[in-house]
Amino acid sequence: MTVPTRGGTPRNPERKTDGPIVARFAQLLGTPLLPWQQLVADVAGEIDPDTGTYFYDTVILSTPRQCGKSTLVDAVDTRNSQWGPDRYIYYLAQTGKDAGDHFKKYLKVVQASPLAAITRRPYLGAGDLRQPFANGSVIMPKSVTKVAGHGVQGDKITLDEAFSLSEETGNTIVDGFLPTTATRLRATGVQPQLWITSTEGTAESTFFNKRLDACREGDVSRRTCWFDFGIPADADPENLDVIMRYHPAAGLLWDKRQLRDFRDQFKGNPAGWARAFGNRRDEGVTDRVIDEALWADTLTAPVAPSELGARPVVFGVAVDVDATYTSISAAIVNNDGTISTQLLKILDGTGHAPAEIARLCDTYDAPVVIDTRGTSADLADRLTHMTTPELRFCELSAADYLTVGQAYVSGLSNRAVLHAADPDLDASAANSARTWAGDAWRVTRRGSTGLTSPLESCMLAAWGAAHMPEEDGPLQIY
Ligand SMILES: Nc1ncnc2c1ncn2[C@@H]1O[C@H](COP(=O)(O)OP(=O)(O)OP(=O)(O)O)[C@@H](O)[C@H]1O
Ligand SMILES: [Mg+2]
Repeated sequence: MTVPTRGGTPRNPERKTDGPIVARFAQLLGTPLLPWQQLVADVAGEIDPDTGTYFYDTVILSTPRQCGKSTLVDAVDTRNSQWGPDRYIYYLAQTGKDAGDHFKKYLKVVQASPLAAITRRPYLGAGDLRQPFANGSVIMPKSVTKVAGHGVQGDKITLDEAFSLSEETGNTIVDGFLPTTATRLRATGVQPQLWITSTEGTAESTFFNKRLDACREGDVSRRTCWFDFGIPADADPENLDVIMRYHPAAGLLWDKRQLRDFRDQFKGNPAGWARAFGNRRDEGVTDRVIDEALWADTLTAPVAPSELGARPVVFGVAVDVDATYTSISAAIVNNDGTISTQLLKILDGTGHAPAEIARLCDTYDAPVVIDTRGTSADLADRLTHMTTPELRFCELSAADYLTVGQAYVSGLSNRAVLHAADPDLDASAANSARTWAGDAWRVTRRGSTGLTSPLESCMLAAWGAAHMPEEDGPLQIY
């Protein structure tokens, strides 16, 4: 083993291992294990001398792209199908198509190999791909979304490309699988295994990041083994010799000349390159909602209550993920028709928000805008049921909600919308990225490195100023 790792579980030579049997299956599949694949198979395949079955119940594997992750999983799964009769093995990827595309290649490989003799005819139906074996075991690809809804019981589950999972989705699958493993162990005598395999993702890869970070901090169960391949934190990903040194498939699956071609495919995307071939997490906000120059150009002075005069006011309210903070902003319609937005409060949690919002709306005789879904749903519900005072709302449909951010950015670009200087609001604008839904977008909340509610509350307030409730008369701002 010559490739240095960034960390992980070493082989415990005192335990026997099933790794050589995996190697035999890999050979039969025409992809004899590379040294790094053998290491993973050997450690993950260690046998607990007390029980005679797998020592590890969980395997976490982080490698660069084009390493042979999925191919290793195939060899291990094939081996796993032969531990005994009627075993259920799932291969999960981001979408059914991702899982299915990979699986169809696997089917071709198995059917062309000597192992075809121990298989039954594969199912190729849409939504029902599977490879049954003569002993009654089955390997099935599934989409994460399907499984998250129903839960799976099985003997081995792999979450491939786990970087694509949010913490919620990933945990739903794991929480569905783990409780059933004790029963399966008793029934089969073989310890079920959960494999989580991926290249590093972005700040949004909340499921994989959390597990990998816990491993790196040593906060890991003794029944979990993990493997972390990639360039060190201080290495230069643009130096191809560095990549050749730390990528465990370099020189085995491809050479340095091909690596140059790979690099060319990432033109203009250095962070994407460092992630794919250096396995370095992409932490940056690459898709900032409002670019720095535009933000700096649209600054205005805060308005004190005494200076407000007869100008109409609308309040916008937004809540951060897990209801950690509530931000309240005001949009003020100026005499020249422009809208000034300003952050008023960042409250801890949501508990004190109704009283404060009521006070503001009452004092300034102003309506309020809040998203009735998402992170603010609970607060919105409490506000709508409030009777003293009864609040006025600017109706905001789900479709409207997806235009709120773009309307704000367009308003800034046209100088129809301004924002009052505020360090918390600046930080929020700097930290806010976009999540796309088709051609529309909203501010990315989960996985953000800072608060998004200050900026979101300004966006909502500005939208409200342009969509006042009827009795205030519609305003034509944009
Ligand atoms: N042990 C092996 N022997 C020969 N070829 C292999 C071996 N392992 C993987 N390969 C080949 O290398 C290529 C990349 O492998 P694979 O798709 O498993 O990598 P991966 O790490 O899952 O990549 P990605 O991150 O792009 O999904 C495939 O064409 C595969 O067939
Ligand atoms: Mg793969």
